[in-house]
Parts: sequence; C-alpha cells; structure tokens
Amino acid sequence: MSAPKLKAPRGTFDIIGEQAFAREALEAKAKALLGAAGYERIETPVFEATELFARGVGESTDIVSKEMFSFDDGSGRSLTLRPEGTAPTCRAYIEHGMHKRRQPVKLWYLSSFFRHERPQDGRYREFWQVGAEAIGSDDPAVDAESITLLATLLAEMGVREVRLRLSSLGSPEARGVYRELLQAHLRANEERLSEEVRARIELNPLRAFDSDHPGTREVMRTAPLLLDHLDAADLDHFAEVQGMLDAAGLLYEVDPTLVRGLDYYTRTLFEFTSDALGAQSGVAGGGRYDRLVEQLGGPPTPGMGWAAGIERILLAGEAQHFAATPIELFIALGEDAKAVRREAFALLVAARSAGLAAQMELGGRSLKGQLGQAASLGARFVAIVGTGEAALRDMQAATQETVPLDTVVHAVLRSHHDL
Ligand code: HAM
Repeated sequence: MSAPKLKAPRGTFDIIGEQAFAREALEAKAKALLGAAGYERIETPVFEATELFARGVGESTDIVSKEMFSFDDGSGRSLTLRPEGTAPTCRAYIEHGMHKRRQPVKLWYLSSFFRHERPQDGRYREFWQVGAEAIGSDDPAVDAESITLLATLLAEMGVREVRLRLSSLGSPEARGVYRELLQAHLRANEERLSEEVRARIELNPLRAFDSDHPGTREVMRTAPLLLDHLDAADLDHFAEVQGMLDAAGLLYEVDPTLVRGLDYYTRTLFEFTSDALGAQSGVAGGGRYDRLVEQLGGPPTPGMGWAAGIERILLAGEAQHFAATPIELFIALGEDAKAVRREAFALLVAARSAGLAAQMELGGRSLKGQLGQAASLGARFVAIVGTGEAALRDMQAATQETVPLDTVVHAVLRSHHDL
C-alpha cells in the first residue's frame, strides 16, 4: 500500500513553471525601477517577536487580533510569521542605526507574508508582496515619488483598469478630536449599525467606513469626515502631495472615506485597485507612518511606503522583462527650494519617462549637501533647478551651463549619445 499523498496547506501554493518566470520578470522590473530611484534591498526574518506587530500594526486591527500565525519558541516567547513588512523594516532601521545614514533611507523587499484569512481567489494564507519604504524624511516629494514609482511598476506589469484613491489621515492628535466626533455620530445611530461596527465604536471607529452592511453604509453617508478636520500643516502637506502627483500627470481620486487595516498610518494614505480583479480588488496600498519608528523604540523618524500583492499583480496584468540602468541624472533644488519643487518633480517624471535613471533631492539638504548626495550616487549629470531654468552640471567633465528647464532631458540624452 502506498503512503497517502500530502497537499500544500489550505491557502498556500507552489510557485512553478509560468508563475516562476512571471515572478522573476516582476522582480527584475522592481529591482531596476526601485534600484534606479535609490532603493536598496532588504529581507527581514520570516518570523519576528509577536510584540513587534502588536505594537506596530495595532492590537485592534483584524491582522493582529485574528489573522496572525503565532507560536511559542519553546522558551515561553511568542513569535509570529510576519503578516506584513513595514514594522519589520522599521525594526531593522532602528536595530542597524540607519538614522545615522543619509536620509531618507530607501529600502525595498520582495517577500512572502502570512495571514490567517479565509482563502479565495486573490486571497491566500501565504502570499507575496513587493514593498518599498522610504524612512527619514517627511518631504511630500517622498510621498509623490513613492506613489509614482508604484504606478509605474503596475503600468509596466500591464496591470489593467487601475484606480488610485488618495486621502490624508493627518496627525494622531487631530485624529483624536475627530475620533470623538465620529464616535458620537456612531453612538447616535447605534441601532442601525452592524454588530461588528457597534463592537468597534470604542476601539476602531474609522473601520465603519469599510463596512458592506447596508444600515452602516447609510449611517456613514452623513458621518463627519477626517479630511474636514485636518490642521493647517497636514492640509499643506496633502496639497503638496497632490500638486506633485498633478505635475506628474498621475490620475487619482481623493476619497475621504478611505481606511486601511493597519494602525500606523499618519497623513498620506492610498490604495490602488484594479477593476480587472474580483472581490479582492486591492492591488497595492500604503501611506505615511511618521510615528512608527518612535513607537518601536527608535528616534522620532517619519516614513512612507507601500506594498503590492504579487499574486494580484499577476492576476490583473502581464509580465515582461526589464534591464537595470545606472543613475544618470540627479535633480537638485536651487535657492528657493520650495518654489521650484513641483517643477523639479515634473522634470524627474519627464526624465524617467524619457528612459533616464533619475533621482531628485528628497532630504531638504543645502546645495552643497545635494551635490554630495549626487556624487555619492555616482550621478553623471546634476540639474540644479531654478524657475524655468536649470544649471546643468556634467559631473565627469566638471563643466556647467545654464539651460531652459524643458531642454534638460534632451541635453542629457544628447550627451549620452555623444559618449
Ligand atoms: P496591505 O494593504 O495589508 O498593506 O497589503 C498590501 C497588498 O498585499 C494588498 O493590496 C494586496 O494586494 C496584498 N495582500 C494582502 N493580504 C493578502 C492576502 N491574504 N492574499 C493575497 N494578497 C494579499 C501592507 O501590508 C502594508 N505593510 C503596506 C505598507 C507599506 N504601508 C506602508 N508601507
């Protein structure tokens, strides 16, 4: 008698054949795109202290309260198979003293994650994500760059019928005041809410926006919106992010009811969905997490990032091949940095769409610091952006000329051909 055959556990799968090729192509593309934008690879352990997720992701979230695979390590300590990558990346940032490096520190990963969910198409118990985190700068250009890179990755993977929803959660302080308003609204309409939402009025009232329950949806139609209660600095940050996305020509919808299932978010919040997918339409999501590093025991450090589900990208798109390129253009901000930031960002996007490997200043550095940054990246050209023009510096030839802003990309491309 032969031994009974064993199968992979429910909600898990083997990666073989076409799937493996498609994933290699995706990985090559992510590496080229993110590497050219200054992101370095990070891989953290598959399991971590359970406390990391309890503190980082939040006790009241579905992920921590019911979806974690946790186990005892044999000496009474609780370990958990990582359900997501942001908290581990911040743990590593702190553990390796990365705040001493040039900021922001940009890290990306392609790893598998584990959540005890009900398996269905596009939802698994072990799944893969490609993720990118930029830690150490609260510059809205970091947000815009991060979102734009993700949009490019999804486009290059041929993900169809993509939609981007964008919102801002503001600071936890402003949110505290708003929470009370929302809780009062929920309590006043308690009898019309689903049981689940009612049970979470105290702990996590914002999740009520996510409910499919008809009564709850009705109540939420007249609920106060967080976007109407942000403070001036948060509103300004959000306007800057939108201005840069506009400058990049990226389409999005501001959705004040957007909520995500992780507690660490502050300010910018976003989600990419694809209408080509079924019920599990979320392809990617992310946002800012300006308090997370501090919550995990590090110095106060802002952060911004996203993760995209690889199975969902492959379900909604097509894989192709891609080759890596070195950094060709660094875009520095001239004297009036704030005034020229959008123009600089538009130049960054134009340079990238012309096929150049380009990066822009994101760390609020002095001009000298920016040139140091460009040199450390090995950039061949630096464009120091002013209003309508740029000083284009050839780092190799040590020459510099002032040119109209809209000719920078052409000038870099031309000298490239002359090499
Ligand atoms: P998340 O929205 O929980 O965010 O997951 C990101 C993506 O992972 C989702 O949009 C989806 O494509 C995929 N995903 C999540 N759960 C599953 C599942 N059970 N099966 C298949 N795919 C799944 C995060 O994980 C955050 N760490 C993102 C982030 C990074 N925020 C800031 N930095």
